[in-house]
Amino acid sequence: MTKATSRLGGDKDTGITMNAKRDFMTLLDFSSDELTSLTKRASELKQLRKRGARHTPLTGKTLAMIFQLSSTRTRVAFEAGMNELGGHAIFLSPNDSQLGRGEPISDTAQVLSEMVDIVMIRTLSQDDIETFAAHASVPVINAMSSRFHPCQLLADVQTFEEHRGPITGKSVAFVGDGYNMCHSYINAARQWGFQLKIACPDGHRPDQALLDSCNEASLVESPREAVEKADLVVTDVWSSMGHEEEADARLATFDGYQVNPKLLDFASKDALFMHCLPAHRGEEISEDLFSDPRSVVFDEAGNRLHSQKALLEFLLQGR
Ligand code: CP
Repeated sequence: MTKATSRLGGDKDTGITMNAKRDFMTLLDFSSDELTSLTKRASELKQLRKRGARHTPLTGKTLAMIFQLSSTRTRVAFEAGMNELGGHAIFLSPNDSQLGRGEPISDTAQVLSEMVDIVMIRTLSQDDIETFAAHASVPVINAMSSRFHPCQLLADVQTFEEHRGPITGKSVAFVGDGYNMCHSYINAARQWGFQLKIACPDGHRPDQALLDSCNEASLVESPREAVEKADLVVTDVWSSMGHEEEADARLATFDGYQVNPKLLDFASKDALFMHCLPAHRGEEISEDLFSDPRSVVFDEAGNRLHSQKALLEFLLQGR
């Protein structure tokens, strides 16, 4: 399969070729410096918005949003973000697009590339996202697959750094399912240079090859071992989208992996807690965790808007 070449920063109206397009499939698609600039830019955009300043560099640009799975935060962040930047977003679901009737993803990628400036796609299949990106001549963003959720990590790092300063050199604990969020934390540990300790039950560990690729990440035996002296503690639901039918069995498998204030007490004194949401209280978190002063989950959710705006600006403007 030949990767489509195109214009990033090129102008659709004039057809001027400037640079090869950039995609955001995983955190490894960007350099560490680019990621650091992105999260800093996200905080700047947040301040601009707080001051009520209009910043509309994407006027006339269109984002297509393909959602084959449910979403609240990602959809609203991209749609509101594109709107605030002066552009426009189009929502496409399998129910109201030809993707739901079997039109090949490669054809859809080429068609949308003729009409819009950038595409984000959420689907379980990482292969589908990569096929789409390979056939698209405009930038493509992975808005979550079964393998990775890189957009969430931009917001998570932004949130940590707004509260506690640089994440480089810090200690992070991931407790729970070694799935897409855990995989993206492994990539983040590599890119931002923090230590990551992962506690997962047998059968739910992250991809071994990915783990082996990252010197900063390691598996530990228990949630307590992961959390001990951590600066940030993170978890995710025990049954992500695509695993709903296993939900009852997983309650037993993940018993003992709940993050609660008592577990957080083993972390460093000024530790933070994050969860990408939605959360299942009484399962991966206790009922009272979100009211704990160490929880910053709603800041984290709000930062999806600012970090997605920074990502759109970067991919469309190269800044
Ligand atoms: N965290 C996250 O991606 O939320 P949504 O599934 O609501 O988009």
